[in-house]
Amino acid sequence: MAKKILVTGGTGYIGSHTVVELQMAGYDVVIIDNLSNSNIEVLDNIAKITGIAPEFEKFDLTELDKTIDFFKRYSGIEAVIHFAASKAVGESVEIPLHYYRNNLVSLINMLECMEKFDVPNIVFSSSCTVYGQPDKLPVTEQTPRKDAESPYGNTKRVNEDILNHTLNANPHLRGIALRYFNPIGAHESALIGELPLGVPNNLVPFITQTAAGLRDGLKVFGDDYNTPDGSAIRDYINVVDLAKAHVIAIERLLKGKNKSNYEVFNLGTGNGYSVLEIVKTFEKATGIKLNYKIVGRREGDIEKIWADTTYANEELGWKAEKGLEETLLSAWNWEKNIRGIK
Ligand code: UFG
Repeated sequence: MAKKILVTGGTGYIGSHTVVELQMAGYDVVIIDNLSNSNIEVLDNIAKITGIAPEFEKFDLTELDKTIDFFKRYSGIEAVIHFAASKAVGESVEIPLHYYRNNLVSLINMLECMEKFDVPNIVFSSSCTVYGQPDKLPVTEQTPRKDAESPYGNTKRVNEDILNHTLNANPHLRGIALRYFNPIGAHESALIGELPLGVPNNLVPFITQTAAGLRDGLKVFGDDYNTPDGSAIRDYINVVDLAKAHVIAIERLLKGKNKSNYEVFNLGTGNGYSVLEIVKTFEKATGIKLNYKIVGRREGDIEKIWADTTYANEELGWKAEKGLEETLLSAWNWEKNIRGIK
């Protein structure tokens, strides 16, 4: 019988791509999502890609009674991938309590239910934001974490600690925190992708919306950083490559191949690209000239970060495979699909 995996936040951006990869690998998936930042139609599109509609439950994981009720109704869940969280950095500064409640309470409720209902495995969505601006690049898993720049970033850091401490106290539970660098792009089918509500905060959705005519022009935040072209550098990773790493992490836990009951992996490509390089590569991949202008730095941004991928490559046997051009083209194909552009 296929093993059943619970994916919280499974209709969201990274969640939906991970559900596809889990189903392709033969797992049964049940999704919990409150649809606060995603759309129910994602389920149909997952089914179009894989031929299987995942089971779906709509509720808020901050509600403990509903979470308990879910686990009473669904037996046989072998592992959880916990994506569900609020993720807008700027918004988290304005409404910090919403971020702390949403992101912390949902993880606490999940861990309590895992103890209570004997679900032993969890993969947690963390972020390279926990490193802040590292003193040394590239970033390994041993690079010290720094104070968070935003309430959102702090929820990732605190949640890592909550997970670590809970797993320490419960040796029968096992968990992996995956620290994502900058996920971009969309599934090659263009049926699922990132759907930002309102004006996008992140670079690539802003670029594709500018190319689609929804935005007048991209603002490049700063050209006076200590980088070769002056714009900030990130490690942009294809979302499908990222999703595949979750399947490997799940297999590692299910087969008991983990080295300790709390492990951490960086998920990036190992390559840093500047904002201006992203703009140029997008133009090359799509043939579209992008209207952009240089403006001042964005508050809270770091200068540069990219991953040392050695540990994930060697220990997980996983490597990001897709190139930047292909990835940016997939983001554009998704934007065209949702806007009805031929
Ligand atoms: N950028 C622009 N113009 C834009 C949007 C972004 O120049 O309109 C620049 C940013 O200044 C930054 C780069 O593009 O230099 C990437 O910005 P994103 O907003 O796409 O990504 P961030 O690196 O700021 O954010 C990511 C994740 C967050 C996480 C953060 C930690 O999206 O979840 O990394 O640094 F908290």
